[in-house]
Amino acid sequence: MTDVTIQRLGHLGDGIAHGPLYVPGALPGEVVTGQRDGDVLKDVKIVTPSDARVKPPCSHARSCGGCQLQHASDAFVAEWKRDVVRQALGAHGISVDLELPITSPPQSRRRASFSVRRTKKGALAGFHMKGSDTIVSVPHCQLVHPDLTAALPMVEALGALGASRKGELSVLLTRTDTGLDVSVTGGKEMDVALHQALADLAREYDLARIAWDREVALQRRAPVLTVGEAEVSPPSGAFLQATQEGEAALIAAVKEALIKPKAVLDLFAGCGTFALPLAKTAPVHAVESDRDMINALDHAWRNAQGLKRVTHEARDLFRNPLITEELNRFDAVVIDPPRAGAMAQVAELGNSTVSRIAHVSCNPSTFARDTATLIHAGYDLEWVRVVDQFRWSTHVELVALLRRGT
Ligand SMILES: C[S@@+](CC[C@H](N)C(=O)[O-])C[C@H]1O[C@@H](n2cnc3c(N)ncnc32)[C@H](O)[C@@H]1O
Repeated sequence: MTDVTIQRLGHLGDGIAHGPLYVPGALPGEVVTGQRDGDVLKDVKIVTPSDARVKPPCSHARSCGGCQLQHASDAFVAEWKRDVVRQALGAHGISVDLELPITSPPQSRRRASFSVRRTKKGALAGFHMKGSDTIVSVPHCQLVHPDLTAALPMVEALGALGASRKGELSVLLTRTDTGLDVSVTGGKEMDVALHQALADLAREYDLARIAWDREVALQRRAPVLTVGEAEVSPPSGAFLQATQEGEAALIAAVKEALIKPKAVLDLFAGCGTFALPLAKTAPVHAVESDRDMINALDHAWRNAQGLKRVTHEARDLFRNPLITEELNRFDAVVIDPPRAGAMAQVAELGNSTVSRIAHVSCNPSTFARDTATLIHAGYDLEWVRVVDQFRWSTHVELVALLRRGT
């Protein structure tokens, strides 16, 4: 087919030409050619490369589907992620000055989910190939922490033990202060022989904990993560910020937003990523739907020194948001909802007297929708910090300060 010019990068990282025609691996401004297959261009050849094109830093990048943007320079990705936030806000008529994102370094992801399949010789662990269920081995992965790539032989041993003949195991590894926390799903049913084999494997590789199909099969040491002054032992598979550097950037922005709070409310609190550091200077009430995470937060607070009081409740904030009278007991709120955003809770916040809201989000479009609600209710959007802890992916995270009154 004739040459086409890429106009923009889509939200999944594909180049998009007029049509729209989706061109995997292409960057804005590039002239490309290939075979049209519906609205996708296949067998893509780059005729005129963009100045932003770089040699992917990872030797697995050509085949591995784990990263989407390794062929683009860091500067291009940073500008693009900032623009994703700008456009999401712009769709609601909101504009704000935006600095470039704070990006986590290579090999900093402390959690990753690997796929494993049995093979004739044993098992193969890695990430899926782009757009395929074939697994690519990734011993030189530039994304995850080296402790996770070093554990790939252990992940393959798990596959040889517990994957069914044709099925695929998913093995979630989390690097904690006390060793690896492992959560396996999609495997054979647990029985005495498998349990014994897992115990032997955990000893051989010095694992902290193994969960099998969401049940803890054995715990040699409690997995521990340091959060502020506290030590948290999260439930298996619980939400966790992806990198330590990203978590630190988010906490710093939240602290900056809530200058000298008197009473803090942490909504969608998880295991206390924000509640525990903030409790150094102010009492915090943490609300989260997952009772096990709330229990982990409570345990961490009770065992920490020098923190103000942290109270908590397990509550579904979609169905049962805190109402205005409950919100008015606090001057500062952190809200960090899942990707769906927090429409019901934000509607109540709009009627409240809360003076500062630190809004943390992993989805610029629901963030922009919820921010529009708050602005309509009289809040000012003071600033937004973009945080990129999912390097080389199309994910974007951010913290914003919404403020009312003096
Ligand atoms: C993006 S995570 C943030 C967690 C925490 N702030 C952190 O940074 O570690 C969103 C949290 O919302 C919780 N959640 C999801 N749906 C919820 C709901 N309907 N009500 C309350 N919490 C919910 C999840 O369990 C998860 O812990």
